[in-house]
Amino acid sequence: MTNFTITPNNAALGAKISGLDLNIAFSKKAKDVIQASLLEHSVLWFPEQSLSKNNLLRFSENFGQPVPHPTNYRDQDREVPEITIVSNVVDKGKPLGALGNAELQFHADLVFLNTPGSVSILQCIETPEHGGETSWLSLIKAYDALKPEMINQLRGLKVRYKHNNKAYNPDPLSCHPLLCTHPLSQKKFLFFSPGSANAIQGVGIEESNSLLDTLIQHTIQEKFVWQHQWKKGDVLVWDNRTTLHRRNSFDSKQRRIMYRTQMLGTLSI
Ligand code: SIN
Repeated sequence: MTNFTITPNNAALGAKISGLDLNIAFSKKAKDVIQASLLEHSVLWFPEQSLSKNNLLRFSENFGQPVPHPTNYRDQDREVPEITIVSNVVDKGKPLGALGNAELQFHADLVFLNTPGSVSILQCIETPEHGGETSWLSLIKAYDALKPEMINQLRGLKVRYKHNNKAYNPDPLSCHPLLCTHPLSQKKFLFFSPGSANAIQGVGIEESNSLLDTLIQHTIQEKFVWQHQWKKGDVLVWDNRTTLHRRNSFDSKQRRIMYRTQMLGTLSI
């Protein structure tokens, strides 16, 4: 028996896990249950947590090896470089973190890398009462909703991804299959991250643009989405392979501070 409760969301994905203090190392049994739960629900919400940076790092290690964020905000915290701050707060003229207060469109993390994000974690330190909500979208449900003829059309196709800042892109650009099988759960998912999708590899530009439009329309559907209104102390863990996420904008005069860790992993077997 485990002494915590897993309550699935009444939505396409996500579950709340109550009754755990993430400062305390998990038993092997609890770790197995939580890892299985992440594979089942894709997003896990642990409310009312209070983790130091080092304990956030230790907790993150349950899901892989945390790495410093490989873009321009990697040097934010030299003591714990694996922790990135996501924030709009400016202290004495210096931004505390990355990503400001703007809306962020649906994306998977680090798809522009050859080895993209596997699991990502956000811990809420401060949040506005309204705005700044984060939504997740199930790419497993998006796969399940594909018509058989669409699956046939997509089989073998890969998407080339490109970060706006070319310094972050490998040469050649990263290229990931659309139809993937999760290496741990064996579940099938449609791996498609709209924002930085540059082209379908190996097809003409018109066909590529038309297919990208079709994929956006198919993937971004409310029925695949769950939205979270943050509270201080929330820790959210998500499978970056089987989900996309986006964020609502919020009032620039309000403070929002999140600590974030990032694990990387292969996409398909
Ligand atoms: C992100 O897209 O990584 C940040 C999400 C958020 O700030 O809620």
